[in-house]
Amino acid sequence: MRILVTGGAGFLGSHLIDRLMTAGHEVICLDNFYTGNKRNILQWLDNPNFELIRHDITEPIRLEVDQIYHLACPASPVHYQYNPVKTVKTNVMGTLNMLGLAKRVKARFFLASTSEVYGDPDVHPQSEEYRGNVNPIGLRACYDEGKRIAETLAFDYYRQNKVDIRVVRIFNTYGPRMLENDGRVVSNFIVQALQGKPLTVYGDGSQTRSFCYASDLIEGFIRLMNSDYVGPVNIGNPGEYTILQLAEAVRDMINPNAEIIHEPLPSDDPRRRRPDITKAKTLLDWEPTVPLAEGLKLTVEDFRKRMGDAAI
Ligand SMILES: NC(=O)c1ccc[n+]([C@@H]2O[C@H](COP(=O)([O-])OP(=O)(O)OC[C@H]3O[C@@H](n4cnc5c(N)ncnc54)[C@H](O)[C@@H]3O)[C@@H](O)[C@H]2O)c1
Repeated sequence: MRILVTGGAGFLGSHLIDRLMTAGHEVICLDNFYTGNKRNILQWLDNPNFELIRHDITEPIRLEVDQIYHLACPASPVHYQYNPVKTVKTNVMGTLNMLGLAKRVKARFFLASTSEVYGDPDVHPQSEEYRGNVNPIGLRACYDEGKRIAETLAFDYYRQNKVDIRVVRIFNTYGPRMLENDGRVVSNFIVQALQGKPLTVYGDGSQTRSFCYASDLIEGFIRLMNSDYVGPVNIGNPGEYTILQLAEAVRDMINPNAEIIHEPLPSDDPRRRRPDITKAKTLLDWEPTVPLAEGLKLTVEDFRKRMGDAAI
C-alpha cells in the first residue's frame, strides 16, 4: 500500500514509519520539521519506497495514497504553547486538509487524538464514553480543544462524506527519539539525571500518569487501522505510577545520588489519568507488553547516545 504519515519525522511518526517500511509498504512522510527531525528517518532516505516532503499541513496538498496516518501536531506543552494559534490551525485547518485529501482519494484516515480530550478527568479510569472535563480558555485548550475539534471533523466527514476513519486516543507514551527539550516528564527526568542535575517534580509528586512504550503504541495503531472498528479507542498503558515513583525509578537507573526537588504545579495539570483499555483488548486483542523498567532502560540508552559527552 502507499501510506501517508503526517508528522512522520517526529517521535511517534518515525517509529510508525519504521514499522510500515519494514512491512514493505511505500511511505510518504510529510512534515514541517517544527518538532520533527530528519535524523529520525535518516535510515529510510535512500530507500526507493520512501519519500519525504517538507510541507505544512495547514496548506492543502494533493497526493495519491491508500491510507493516511495523521499525526502532525506538536505534542508537548512547551511546543504547543509556544504558538497556540498555530497549534489550533494545525489541528483544525491541518485536519480539514487531510480529511479533504482522504475524501478525494478514498483513503482510510487515522487520527492521532489524545487522552487530553478528557481534560482533568472527574471519572477514573477514563473509558471512551467519558466526555471529559476540559477548560476551553485554558493554556492547554489550543491542544486539547484542538484535538476535540479534530475528532469532531473526523466523525463529521465519516457521517457526511463516508470517509473511512479510525480514531485513537493516545495516553502518555515514551521511548527513544523523544525530544530532549520537550518538557515531558519522562524526558525531563532522564535529561536531568544524565546531566547530574536534581530531578524536578511539580507539586508533591502524588499526581499519577500511565506510561506506554512506543513499540506497544505503534502495535495498537496498526491493529486499529487494519480493523473494522472506527473508534475512538484508548491506547495506553493502564499501569499507574505517581510522578514521584517515576522520578525515583529514573534516578535509581542513572544516578542514585541525584536529588529530587519540588516546584509548584502548572495550571490545568490533571491529577490522575489512566486509560480504560477494555475496548482495545476486546476489539483489537491489544494490550501493552513492555514493562516500565525495560522501556525506561531502552529510552535512557537512546538519550545517552544522543547527549554524548554531556551525559554521566
Ligand atoms: N507522545 C505522546 O505521548 C502523545 C500522547 C497523545 C497524543 N499524541 C499525538 O501523537 C502525535 C505525534 O506526537 P509525537 O509525540 O510524535 O510528537 P512530535 O512533536 O514528536 O511529532 C509531531 C510531528 O508533527 C510535525 N508537525 C507539527 N505541526 C505540523 C504542521 N503544521 N505541518 C506538518 N508537520 C507538523 C512536527 O514537526 C513533528 O515531526 C501528535 O498528534 C500528538 O498530539 C502523542
